[in-house]
Amino acid sequence: MTKIIAMAGKGGTGKTTTSALLLKYLTERHMTPVLAVDADANANLNELLDLDVQLTLGKIRKDIKSDMPSGMSRDQFMEMKIHQSLIEEQGYDLMVMGQPDGPGCYCAANQYLAMTMDKLSENYKFIVVDNEAGMEHLSRMNLREIDCLLIVSDPSARGILTARRIADITGPLQLMVKNKFLIVNRAPDPVPEALQEKIDQAVAEADLPLGGIISSSDDLVAHELNGSSYLNLPDDSKVVQQSSTIFDTVFSKLLQ
Ligand SMILES: Nc1ncnc2c1ncn2[C@@H]1O[C@H](COP(=O)(O)OP(=O)(O)O)[C@@H](O)[C@H]1O
Ligand SMILES: [Mg+2]
Repeated sequence: MTKIIAMAGKGGTGKTTTSALLLKYLTERHMTPVLAVDADANANLNELLDLDVQLTLGKIRKDIKSDMPSGMSRDQFMEMKIHQSLIEEQGYDLMVMGQPDGPGCYCAANQYLAMTMDKLSENYKFIVVDNEAGMEHLSRMNLREIDCLLIVSDPSARGILTARRIADITGPLQLMVKNKFLIVNRAPDPVPEALQEKIDQAVAEADLPLGGIISSSDDLVAHELNGSSYLNLPDDSKVVQQSSTIFDTVFSKLLQ
């Protein structure tokens, strides 16, 4: 059965970073094939993987309105285009959502997208969804059962409060979330006592277990600056080790 892991959290907290680190973790352990979905309108997961994007789902949704080849139904066309848009890499494929529906969009396309996603999902062991702050894309893709929501927070009291709120809003979105973990990212090293207390308190009060803490990392900054793929981060770097420990925790729960 395909397991769906989605990111959540405020902008800039490290969702895309965590997605890339998770992709590294999964592909290195041959927990593949993986579908990585960049569900942020300002797609940038591809940049952390050093990949170029040619075709986004947003573009397909527009094309389906105008550029229909004859002799093909719209759902067939959609399915074909979605397969074309996948960027195929070693162990994983990347799908980029791009811009959401504008006024010029053919909105039934979302239904075709949902249908195609149902079929496509079966091809993968894991689907990793890098969300923007809202979670609308998940329902648009018909991903209603999330095996694991990773809620990423900055290392501040308010950030952690926001993470707790996000953990609570999944109900109204009619998403079924089976597991949730808090990840506190970009923390000072060592973690200040007051922050650790806040985290412990949040974990105790909310139904939100701690996945772990990732320190602020110069390796990440350097990799982002020189544009090399996060998949090439050295395995002995602290950020890779910390994130691997977090994912060990997550998968020991998810795969039990
Ligand atoms: N642990 C970290 N150490 C240093 N910089 C980080 C860390 N995590 C994220 N960043 C940086 O913070 C910025 C925002 O991260 P990003 O993953 O894009 O957040 P989001 O996807 O939640 O908006 C990026 O420039 C990224 O390189
Ligand atoms: Mg992002």
